[in-house]
Amino acid sequence: MIILAYYYKEASHTFGEYLLVPGYSSDKCIPDNVSLKTPLVRFKKGEEPAISLNIPMVSAIMQAVSNDTMAIALAKEGGLSFIYGSQSIEKQAEMVAKVKNYKSGFVNSDSNIKPTTTLGEILELKEATGHSTMAVTEDGTDTGKLLGIVTSRDYRITRMPMSMQAKEFMTPFSKLVYADAETTTLSQANDIIWDKKLNMLPLVDRNQCLRYMVFRKDYTDNKENKNELIDSKKRYMVGAGINTRDYAERVPALVEAGADVLCIDSSEGFTEWQRITLNYIHEHFGDRVKVGAGNVVDADGFRFLAEAGADFVKVGIGGGSICITRETKGIGRGQATSIIDVAKARDEYYEETGIYVPICSDGGLVHDYHMTLALAMGADFMMLGRYFSRFDESPTNKVRINGTYYKEYWGEGSNRARNWQRYDLGGQKNKLSFEEGVDSYVPYAGALKDNVDLSLSKIRSTMCNCGALNIKEFQEKAKLTLVSATSIVEGGSHDVILKDAFSHE
Ligand code: IMP
Repeated sequence: MIILAYYYKEASHTFGEYLLVPGYSSDKCIPDNVSLKTPLVRFKKGEEPAISLNIPMVSAIMQAVSNDTMAIALAKEGGLSFIYGSQSIEKQAEMVAKVKNYKSGFVNSDSNIKPTTTLGEILELKEATGHSTMAVTEDGTDTGKLLGIVTSRDYRITRMPMSMQAKEFMTPFSKLVYADAETTTLSQANDIIWDKKLNMLPLVDRNQCLRYMVFRKDYTDNKENKNELIDSKKRYMVGAGINTRDYAERVPALVEAGADVLCIDSSEGFTEWQRITLNYIHEHFGDRVKVGAGNVVDADGFRFLAEAGADFVKVGIGGGSICITRETKGIGRGQATSIIDVAKARDEYYEETGIYVPICSDGGLVHDYHMTLALAMGADFMMLGRYFSRFDESPTNKVRINGTYYKEYWGEGSNRARNWQRYDLGGQKNKLSFEEGVDSYVPYAGALKDNVDLSLSKIRSTMCNCGALNIKEFQEKAKLTLVSATSIVEGGSHDVILKDAFSHE
């Protein structure tokens, strides 16, 4: 008897090998009319999903990408972050709670001093944080009893000794305009700022303890964003990564902190460990806790997780920008082929059961048009790591090398993150046997909002070229063609000399 491995009939492909062929666009097909709303979690035919995203983007479950700052910035735009799980349960739950407790425009003071802090120390703090407004509290914390405020208008460096203490020159509480943290709304706070010509309004509780600050400079940011992703209590929505090891402790803590959705974070999801984790969550929390699973790259993997009760399934192995899984282990599949295959499996499962389980394209999305192709091929939403790591809001250092700014970005399977749970196959605990990711730099790209706006405007524009006003319609109408290596060359600018080439003259 001859036993042979199974061979797929076709090579697996990735996004850069495909193009969309435009379809008829009616006069209704304008970017302003395009909706990018998309389901995040499973739903029954005829029903609405419990959670939908307003834009089809989530940020990766990675130390270098998704903390509370990223989550707030992305939820403001209509997407969702999954706070990374490769940290202690307490720290992860704290990040989730920070997002849930965040009140738009109400800032927790990040520069706080004691009455005895010296002018020299104040200048050092200003240098470190870049902020000139400091709260003087009894114990020097951001929630201590507010005794005064120091701004650069309170001191004159040339005339005052560096040893002078804040209590001698701060604007004392008795001279401050402040408001009640419990009852003041953002629009009332802004009115006080305008009426009293303030730069900042402190909000205190009934014990005079500092709760928030509202800044004049944030006024334009504080206007409501019609796309923002909020829960029924108007709080930003946030997700969190979990693993198949400590779920019995981690999941209750994250639920308690207010996480709206969880996701099992693993490099390979077609495993019994994922089924056990999903079972635990369903047994203990029923339908109340939503949880995605993955990653898989074919129909079998999808069906396994859908039947195990995953609320969404994440697709992609080996395509991430920092990923060396394919080189190290020889597993994976071209991302476009994976999505096409899994999308078909999702639709068949829907036909059979009447249950729609959304799929997420995770990793390897480099150009904006890759996102458009992922959606056209059937992804309900996308997870991005490198893309978000480049923004101001990512948790990593911004560094300047040879006059250009970069941000750090490292894989969860790198020695730096040491996220052994993500790669665990039930072997030795607490150990990453070999690396599956690298530590790198990515070009710094500025504010999340500006970049997301631009990427989405390209996606909307292409959808209009294909005659589609929403993602489902786009998937039904999309016509895709594989391209030859030569026509890929034709796709960039060619046979011209770019003016940039002469810019040094
Ligand atoms: P990117 O958007 O191309 O940078 O890919 C991000 C995705 O890569 C994440 O969402 C993970 O699925 C995956 N990933 C994160 N860290 C690693 C790693 O160290 N090795 C392999 N894949 C990783």
